[in-house]
Amino acid sequence: MDSTNIINEVRSKVDIVDIISSYLPLSGKGKNYFGVCPFHDDTNPSMSVSRDKQIYKCFSCGASGNVFNFVMDYEHISFKEALAILAEKAGVELTGIHIDKKTDKYDKFYEIYDLAHKYYLNNMNSSYAKNAKEYLHNRHITEEMIKEYKIGLSLDKPDTLTKLLLSKGYDLNTLNELGISRENHDIYMNRIIFPLYDLNGRIVAFSGRRYDGIKQNKYVNTIGTKIFTKGETLYNYHLAREQIRSKNEVIVMEGFMAVIRASVSGIKNCVGLMGTAMTKEQANLITHLSKNVIVCFDGDEPGRMACLENGAILESKGCNVKVVELSDNLDPDDYILKYGTESFESLIKNAITLSDYRIKRLKRNVNLSSDLEKSNYINKVLEETSKIKDEIHREFILKGLAKEFEISYNTLEKRLLSYMDKKDEETKNIPDLEVIKKPNNIKKDKYYFATYALLYYMLVNKECLEYYDSGRINFLNEDERFLASEISYYKHKYNEVDIADFYTYLNDKEDLRKVLDKTLDLDLDKELDVKDLESYIKTLKEYQINQEIEKLKKKIKEEPDVSKQSEYLIRIAQIKKEFLKEK
Ligand code: CTP
Ligand code: MN
Repeated sequence: MDSTNIINEVRSKVDIVDIISSYLPLSGKGKNYFGVCPFHDDTNPSMSVSRDKQIYKCFSCGASGNVFNFVMDYEHISFKEALAILAEKAGVELTGIHIDKKTDKYDKFYEIYDLAHKYYLNNMNSSYAKNAKEYLHNRHITEEMIKEYKIGLSLDKPDTLTKLLLSKGYDLNTLNELGISRENHDIYMNRIIFPLYDLNGRIVAFSGRRYDGIKQNKYVNTIGTKIFTKGETLYNYHLAREQIRSKNEVIVMEGFMAVIRASVSGIKNCVGLMGTAMTKEQANLITHLSKNVIVCFDGDEPGRMACLENGAILESKGCNVKVVELSDNLDPDDYILKYGTESFESLIKNAITLSDYRIKRLKRNVNLSSDLEKSNYINKVLEETSKIKDEIHREFILKGLAKEFEISYNTLEKRLLSYMDKKDEETKNIPDLEVIKKPNNIKKDKYYFATYALLYYMLVNKECLEYYDSGRINFLNEDERFLASEISYYKHKYNEVDIADFYTYLNDKEDLRKVLDKTLDLDLDKELDVKDLESYIKTLKEYQINQEIEKLKKKIKEEPDVSKQSEYLIRIAQIKKEFLKEK
């Protein structure tokens, strides 16, 4: 069976509204649903999902597509992986179907990083690695760990890798652009190399750690490139993704060593920020993996601040955030080596909620012999408690405070309720669903309308397609012409098509998908009058003629020869006459 048919079968057997609802809340009923778009930073429900058309569209950032596009973009997975997930939901068997591996415009980049990585691995297996291995073994990084995490080594030589890659035919500019070389020198010298992966598990950068004991420039990371941005990456993402999904829990740590140590100890649902600062993109990646997040940063002051700050970001995105606080400046790697895996596992199991952590932090430095400080503290705790959704949890805190400070439960509850009222007031300002409408800011003249109407009717109307095939429709711009020829090809190959399936076909043609979006934005009826069809075609023709005339007029202005000028004038008159005759 043709894989396209199976793919379309999967698509038609799942409902986009159900699928998207499983990722984020949608509201609405009947044809159109709305939700907060997960593809840009927002709190307004600017994404609409159409049950009729089985597509989604964000009016704010323009993200759009069918159910496959949504799952791919949300989960950062390939088409094939999204297909597998949805086929399972649809109960469709995928055995025997083959999906072409699309070539990527950055294939050469991946190739270079792969070669560089092989080179680093070879070094780690050579006699040059004696000191590096000694360093790693001293840190209890075993041979198995080196293998599993594909840790390599750069040599104490200025340009071995650069020369190697040049000899394979890659040019120096590319090596510089990719952060492998600077001029004709290697970037990494005498460092232990951690490969960094993109979300799909391709090597896109390196981080080199020095092992000579000097603290300065401990890690050097590959510069940002077209395929790598540190702040959009999580260390271990592609390896941990499945575990995180199945556990529905993700542990967020700072560094490589923490993540590697936890993972080899059997705690495999962890990712690393590669520092303490969490970017919006990283927060989104985490949130999309699981809403149950445990933050476990290093046991120093920056680590504790990171728990509070990153915890707050994740909480604002609807996550249930818990905190593991380590003491004595230990990081998870140190902790596991010192106290063992079981002890660390029990810390994870007993992680406290972010609110409890905040309350715990509030108590630091409170002078318990000062009534003023005590009441300040209690007020802050109550304010924090007012944010807790679970009533029982709130009651526990109140009881604890009442007992500890010998204050009546009622007094505390009254104050708590006043904080809760205040919070309600603040959340009342969220705009109503009805208020959000499609922005109508694109200038839509009659040519625009005619163009996209024709593209739309090519999709849904046989007659219009015939007009196109017989050469009677000429689109004005390249993208429109491309889309038209794709529509014609697709319609002839698959006959009646669902627009949502056409999105699958355009999967790797993002420019054309944007044109398709504009086409569907017109929200036209399926019925088409031949008269309208012809008038759209004429409108395009008129536009082309006007453009041609403009060009000739410009030529006349620039033409010194009077007889040539009159030739152009005659040509203009002819064009006008022909057009009027057709009309
Ligand atoms: N990091 C970085 N650049 C630096 C320092 C740190 O990119 N100059 C990132 C690395 O990803 C590192 C993480 O921040 O793993 C946490 O830093 P740190 O705790 O200092 O390093 P560890 O991972 O604990 O490494 P080690 O134990 O080898 O010192
Ligand atoms: Mn460390």
